[in-house]
Amino acid sequence: MTETTPTLPELIDMQIRTSGPMSIAFYMGLCLTHPSKGYYKVADPLGKAGDFVTAPEISQMFGELVGFFLVNLWQQMGSPKDFTLLELGPGRGTLMADVLRVACRAEGLREGLDLRLFETNPALIAEQNARLEAYGAKWIDSFEKVGPGPLVVISNEFFDALPIRQFVRMGDGWHERMVGLSDGKRSFGLNPTPIPTSAMPEAVAKAEPNSVFEIGLASGEVMKRLANVVSTQGGAILAVDYGYARTQTGETLQGVRKHAFADVLDAPGETDLSAHVDFEALGNLATQAGLALQPLATQGEWLTRMGINDRAKALSVANPGSASDIAAARQRLVDADQMGKLFKVFCAASPGLEPPGFA
Ligand SMILES: C[S@@+](CC[C@H](N)C(=O)[O-])C[C@H]1O[C@@H](n2cnc3c(N)ncnc32)[C@H](O)[C@@H]1O
Repeated sequence: MTETTPTLPELIDMQIRTSGPMSIAFYMGLCLTHPSKGYYKVADPLGKAGDFVTAPEISQMFGELVGFFLVNLWQQMGSPKDFTLLELGPGRGTLMADVLRVACRAEGLREGLDLRLFETNPALIAEQNARLEAYGAKWIDSFEKVGPGPLVVISNEFFDALPIRQFVRMGDGWHERMVGLSDGKRSFGLNPTPIPTSAMPEAVAKAEPNSVFEIGLASGEVMKRLANVVSTQGGAILAVDYGYARTQTGETLQGVRKHAFADVLDAPGETDLSAHVDFEALGNLATQAGLALQPLATQGEWLTRMGINDRAKALSVANPGSASDIAAARQRLVDADQMGKLFKVFCAASPGLEPPGFA
C-alpha cells in the first residue's frame, strides 16, 4: 500500500479543523512559503509560461538604470573598497545581471563588491546561481550576516510577496479577518474579539464602517532590520513595488494564476498571493532607524529621470530590428496606465547621500 502525503489545501483545512480559523498572514505564509508545498518553494512562477511578468523580465533597461543608480551612489560613498550589494527576492537573477553588467564598468567597483542574495525558492536560486556565480554571489538567511562595509539593498516586487494581516472596522473596533471553513469550504470570517481603534494608526482612526485595513508586519520587520544595518554601516535601500504613498484603508490582497486574477482561497500553493505595500509605514521605520527618506517616486517618474528615454533610443539604434519591441517595453514600464504609476520607487539612504532619480 502506498502512503500519500496530504496536499497543501488538505493541510490547511486540517489545521483549521484542529486549531480554528487562521489569520490571513498565517494563511499567506503557508500558501507562499510552506517548506515543501508553498508557491515560492516549488516552481519558477515568473515569465510567460508562469503566472506573471516583472519589470526586469520586460526589459534590460530597468536593471541597467538601477545599475547607474548603484554606480552614482557608490561614487558618492567614496568608491569603497569593500561594500555589500544585497538583493531581496532576486527572481531569475535578471535584474542583478543587468545591474552588474552596467555597474562593473565603473573602475574598482567589481573588486570591492560582496554580492549577497536573499531568496527562498530553490528553483530560482539555481537560476540566480547560473547568472550570478561569476560575480561571487552568496545567499544569506539573515540580514545581519553582511560584511562591515556600506550596504546597498535593491528589490523589485519583494515586499508585496510578504504576508499581511487584515482588519475590518466595526462599531466596537477593528476585527481581524480570518480564514476558516464554512460547510467544509474555505471562507473568510472575523475574529469576534475587537481591537480598539486607539491601537491602530491615526491615519485610519476615522475609517467608515466595514473599511478594511491591512498591516504588513513581515515587511516592517525586514525594513527595520535592514535600516538598522544601513544606518550603522552606511548605504541605501531601494525598493520598487506596487503600493500606496500614505497609510490608508483599502483591500488589496490579490491572487494571480496564469496571468489572470484568481480567488485567494482557491488552490493554495498554486496561486500567487500579494498585497500592495504601505510605503509610509516602511518610510517611518527607515526614518526611525536614522536614514533619510527620499520623496516616493512613481516608477514612470524615476525611470524617466534616470534616463530611460535616451537608453531606449541608444538600444534601438544598436538593434534597429528590435526598435518596436524596445519602444513597447519602455511604454509598459513608464506609462501611467501600465506600470508607470501603480509601481513606486522607495529609497532611504544614509544622511548626506543624494540618491539619483528623486525630486
Ligand atoms: C514577485 S517575485 C519577484 C522576482 C524578481 N525580483 C523580479 O522582479 O523578477 C518575488 C521574489 O521574492 C522571493 N520571495 C518571496 N517570498 C520570500 C521570502 N519570504 N523570503 C525570501 N524570498 C522570498 C520569490 O521567490 C521571488 O524571487
